[in-house]
Amino acid sequence: MIADVNLDAARRVVAQIVATGGTADAVEADAGSPTDPDRAIAETVRRMGGVRILVNNAGVFPFSPADLTPVELWDRVLAINLRGAFLFARAAARSMRATGNGGAIVNIASIDSFHPSGNLAHYDASKGGLAMLTRSLAAEWGGLKIRVNAVAPGGINTPGAGAVSADVLRATGASVDTFTRGFLQHIPLGRMGEPDDIARATLFLASRASDYVTGAVLVVDGGYLVA
Ligand SMILES: NC(=O)c1ccc[n+]([C@@H]2O[C@H](COP(=O)([O-])OP(=O)(O)OC[C@H]3O[C@@H](n4cnc5c(N)ncnc54)[C@H](O)[C@@H]3O)[C@@H](O)[C@H]2O)c1
Repeated sequence: MIADVNLDAARRVVAQIVATGGTADAVEADAGSPTDPDRAIAETVRRMGGVRILVNNAGVFPFSPADLTPVELWDRVLAINLRGAFLFARAAARSMRATGNGGAIVNIASIDSFHPSGNLAHYDASKGGLAMLTRSLAAEWGGLKIRVNAVAPGGINTPGAGAVSADVLRATGASVDTFTRGFLQHIPLGRMGEPDDIARATLFLASRASDYVTGAVLVVDGGYLVA
């Protein structure tokens, strides 16, 4: 089940999954809403019979210098990136608890959970919080056989990352080439990440291959944080 605020985009992914022989469905949900996460999980249980795996991927990262950040933007970013992940996890855990079989939750955090990127204080705070939320829920729900882990991506080629890069270029006046070369210099593996790099790490944490792993934050950044 794909829960996204953009239902058309979610349906396009459903079509791709179905075309390759998988089963998928979509539900419209705003992760920043106080009620949509409960509704989306209830709809998932109704249509699919339960929830065994939850991936909290929805996230926004609008470029905004801290001294110019309005309270509404701060609240919206925290509501989507941090509270939304908690509300989805809470609803999923209730369903997992009811079956007695537990489950796996994977939160998509960020290298910004550990290292600020610049002009993203609201985002960095939300992702730092998400890394700690991961550990708190792992400690609390281990007895329910619910594992809670996170993936912390570095720079990944996605539409969202492209939009932030465009904002940074506008604000700094740097050329695309200078910006890209500067960023790549900090990545020991010498390339940007691709969505599949994150999907594979998420699959590991969602699958039985990581049966004895909980409370971990797996950094997938080509080495950015150690360079
Ligand atoms: N791309 C990167 O370099 C990078 C790095 C570190 C972490 N991340 C994290 O990875 C996750 C995905 O990022 P991305 O780069 O693919 O972003 P993206 O903007 O390309 O895609 C984000 C997706 O989330 C959905 N979404 C946005 N707001 C939503 C809301 N309120 N409710 C439900 N769905 C919503 C969008 O419709 C879209 O499908 C985010 O949590 C982001 O913080 C990305």
